[in-house]
Amino acid sequence: MTQPAIKQMKLYTHVERVRRELKVRGLDQIPRLDPTALETVDQLHYLGVAAIEAALKVLALGPDKRVLDVGAGLGGPARVLAERSGCSVTAVELQADLNDLASELTERCGLSAQIDHRCRDIFDLKPEGEGFDALVSWLCFLHIDDKPALFAHCRQLLKPGALIYIEDFTLERTPSPRERDLLANDVYCRTLVSAADYAAALDRNGFKLIEQHDMTRAWRHFVQARLADFESERWRFQTLHGAEAYRALHHFYAAVVELFDGAALGGTRLLARAH
Ligand SMILES: C[S@@+](CC[C@H](N)C(=O)[O-])C[C@H]1O[C@@H](n2cnc3c(N)ncnc32)[C@H](O)[C@@H]1O
Repeated sequence: MTQPAIKQMKLYTHVERVRRELKVRGLDQIPRLDPTALETVDQLHYLGVAAIEAALKVLALGPDKRVLDVGAGLGGPARVLAERSGCSVTAVELQADLNDLASELTERCGLSAQIDHRCRDIFDLKPEGEGFDALVSWLCFLHIDDKPALFAHCRQLLKPGALIYIEDFTLERTPSPRERDLLANDVYCRTLVSAADYAAALDRNGFKLIEQHDMTRAWRHFVQARLADFESERWRFQTLHGAEAYRALHHFYAAVVELFDGAALGGTRLLARAH
């Protein structure tokens, strides 16, 4: 089967490592998994569960709320949202192997009644009923070139007054040819805009900005520590998952550190309301 182009980003390869990690950590046999127990493997964004807790503080979710998670990955964020607030989540993910594993993990956490995992491109999701109460997305929109079209599409999927909570990459200065290459090929990110342009695009496509935070420093520290931790556990990781899986993930982690260290890449957290 042909792999989707996004698989060139090495965070998305060697997915079977997650099942192996569950096994060696003794988590494959326990009756019900805690959604935070997998934080280091199933939260594919920065700052782990703390980032989801920050979203929970401002989204006022509860059992009566329907949330759309765009680019749900392995479903880590969706499970924490659902478990902590009782909300239901439609978790949309482009890559079939990630989506299948996300579904499996959700079942292991006893959250299948609350989370509907759907494998599709967000642009193929049609409006349903009166729309979602909230939309969340962690580090997915960076993969999508046409932000105005994306925001306009997201708007159609939401109720008027719904909240949208996004964490994403931003452009801090003009990238060098090498940085452009790292972004396009190693991070699958071909279009980056400044934090101000990002907010303006939301504003022009059906949303009113409520708040925006610069995440650049916190994310730079996070990716530096992630790389250092990964290197320090090289032998454990290689023994368990193989040298090729280590090389692939190391290549990705190092590319992201280079981009943050060079100060071309930054990050933003935005909260806006659909009008
Ligand atoms: C960096 S991962 C983050 C996953 C998850 N949000 C998390 O924080 O753990 C971004 C995810 O967005 C997905 N994605 C990218 N483009 C997408 C699209 N057009 N529709 C749906 N998912 C998409 C990717 O396949 C990937 O799994």
